[in-house]
Amino acid sequence: RPDLRVAILGCGTVGTQVVRLLTEQADDLGQRVGRRLRLTGILVRDVDAPRDPAVPTGLLTTDADALLADADLVVELLGGTTTARDLVLAALTAGASVVTANKALLATSGPELYAAADAAGVDLLFEAAVAGAVPVVRGVRESLAGDRVQRILGIVNGTTNFILDEMTTGGLDFDVALKQAQELGYAEADPTADVEGHDAAAKAAILASLAFHTRVALADVACEGITAVSAADIVAARETGGVIKLLAIAERIVTTDAAGEPAESVSVRVNPAILPFAHPLAGVGGAYNAVVVEAEAAGRLMFYGAGAGGAPTASAVLGDVVAAARHRTHGGRAPAESAHAALPLASDADV
Ligand code: NAP
Ligand code: HSE
Repeated sequence: RPDLRVAILGCGTVGTQVVRLLTEQADDLGQRVGRRLRLTGILVRDVDAPRDPAVPTGLLTTDADALLADADLVVELLGGTTTARDLVLAALTAGASVVTANKALLATSGPELYAAADAAGVDLLFEAAVAGAVPVVRGVRESLAGDRVQRILGIVNGTTNFILDEMTTGGLDFDVALKQAQELGYAEADPTADVEGHDAAAKAAILASLAFHTRVALADVACEGITAVSAADIVAARETGGVIKLLAIAERIVTTDAAGEPAESVSVRVNPAILPFAHPLAGVGGAYNAVVVEAEAAGRLMFYGAGAGGAPTASAVLGDVVAAARHRTHGGRAPAESAHAALPLASDADV
């Protein structure tokens, strides 16, 4: 079989680790897929910027068009919603499979991109977009596809969990903890998205869409971040036997309509909350993420692990790369989304 041509868009925190793993594990990955994965190029803004030694600098380019023209599989790790949207759409339209870690892109342009993937009959996979290495997207979309999800409760932003944990256990100031999270590669290029809750809201929108088979956009998620959480709030929470966490909550709400019939809606929100020490999410420290999913038949499940950082995120990206490469080699395709229900958003009075 001819090599499968893989183009990578972005070579920052995540892209560097994806390039490293693709290169170091080329033989194993080729055997798992059934043909060799050949890295054809890596899109960056500045080809002369210093890079990790694992990056083959001869493959760096600023020519997105040439890169896309020579790719079977495109891995988008740029971030942002403008260039990333244009390039992902162009790749899908040209018939390439796409893997992305970009939750902001999916929460804003998801339906357009899912439609392009469907039209081309190719994969658009995004395990790394929610909770880093933790396989919660696949868990909700595939493992729970036969069940009825009632509620999702999660810590889905590593940066804010790291900051709150450092403020709680290490006594660090907010700004110092944020700087550390940036140095460790957990934060977004603009960390406002983390600390204001927008990153968690994008992930909540993605999970809610998959869990409830409907479409929830970023704008549908009520959102409050952690910038107003003070050291005094943390001490006060501890004195009442609890810990402050930034939670993403998505739930199916059942009310009764005017005719007395049951009416379903979906509520999705992100806000800081005090959890009692005994709660399963209370002990989630550092940049770890955890998502509790309650489903009718399965009961309560918990997904837990590294939620941010280059290598953990690259693990999830590579899992999707292998899945998409197998599909291109042996046939089959993962559904980009499973939206068929049009559940309205719950009103404040219903929640
Ligand atoms: P990053 O470190 O800021 O890297 C971004 C990369 O994209 C850089 O290599 C940059 O080029 C390149 N780039 C950006 N805009 C470009 C443009 N217009 N044209 C060409 N190249 C461009 O970002 P990251 O932390 O790796 O995150 C990448 C994506 O993964 C984001 O969507 C993020 O939300 C997601 N993600 C990140 C993590 C994490 O822990 N960091 C976890 C899960 C998901 P230069 O190198 O030349 O500047
Ligand atoms: N900035 C994100 C976080 C990266 O801190 O969770 C992982 O999506």
